[in-house]
Amino acid sequence: MGTPARQGAPVTLKVDGFDVTVPEGTSVMRAAAELGMQIPKLCASDNLEAFGSCRLCVVEIEGRRGTPASCTTPVADGMVVHTQSEKVKRIRKGVMELYISDHPLDCLTCSANGDCELQDMAGAVGLRDQRYEAGRNHYDTSGAGMLAAGDIRARAPQGDMGNPDYIPVDDSNPYFTYDPAKCIVCNRCVRACEEVQGTFALTIEGRGFDSRVSAGAAGDDFMASDCVSCGACVQACPTATLQEKSVIEMGTPERSVITTCAYCGVGCSFKAE
Ligand code: FES
Repeated sequence: MGTPARQGAPVTLKVDGFDVTVPEGTSVMRAAAELGMQIPKLCASDNLEAFGSCRLCVVEIEGRRGTPASCTTPVADGMVVHTQSEKVKRIRKGVMELYISDHPLDCLTCSANGDCELQDMAGAVGLRDQRYEAGRNHYDTSGAGMLAAGDIRARAPQGDMGNPDYIPVDDSNPYFTYDPAKCIVCNRCVRACEEVQGTFALTIEGRGFDSRVSAGAAGDDFMASDCVSCGACVQACPTATLQEKSVIEMGTPERSVITTCAYCGVGCSFKAE
């Protein structure tokens, strides 16, 4: 969650009126979590280095200009932080509105429905409506052939859907699918591949609405890449962009067990109905 926990000299700051003492180098987001406060976030996760790209975790800090990302901002002695000011709430809502405007609104049939961080964060920031037209990326957001439970290949073979830049669902890996239309480009999969697995199989290519996760050279699918199918990227994904085929076929399990063996140390997730 933001910068991983540090061992350093104790630093005391105030978050929303409450004092908290944490080691030097701790992120503001983690300090707030020590107080039980969950600052909205999308690109940060507990086991990855802070990245600071989604801008959902912005806060106000007295004496500082702007609204820094709490996941990448280290604490300082005497710092006074506001995580729920009207200004940051407005910014977070605007950020979420932009994310949702470029996302297929197929939640009711999406395999991640109820287990989606984008959905959770939209609720957390109070987003109920969005003012922008949906579906601006260059992937299939037409609504036709959206992936649904038990329908892994629904969109893969359908051609360009009338869009010359259409990139279909990558169904090449036997364990998971990659659906570029649902990607929010948070980089968590890329960082998990690097930081957890040490494989460096993934990268982000393109800019703006053309941004997408790429598994190697242009045109490569996951099976043709250096991906070792460890699943670290799938576990890191906050949406249904990288989704286990077992979840697509059978739905989200009621419970999962994660075990870590000495062989690779990634932590395999066994799911039970
Ligand atoms: Fe801090 Fe994404 S969670 S910028």
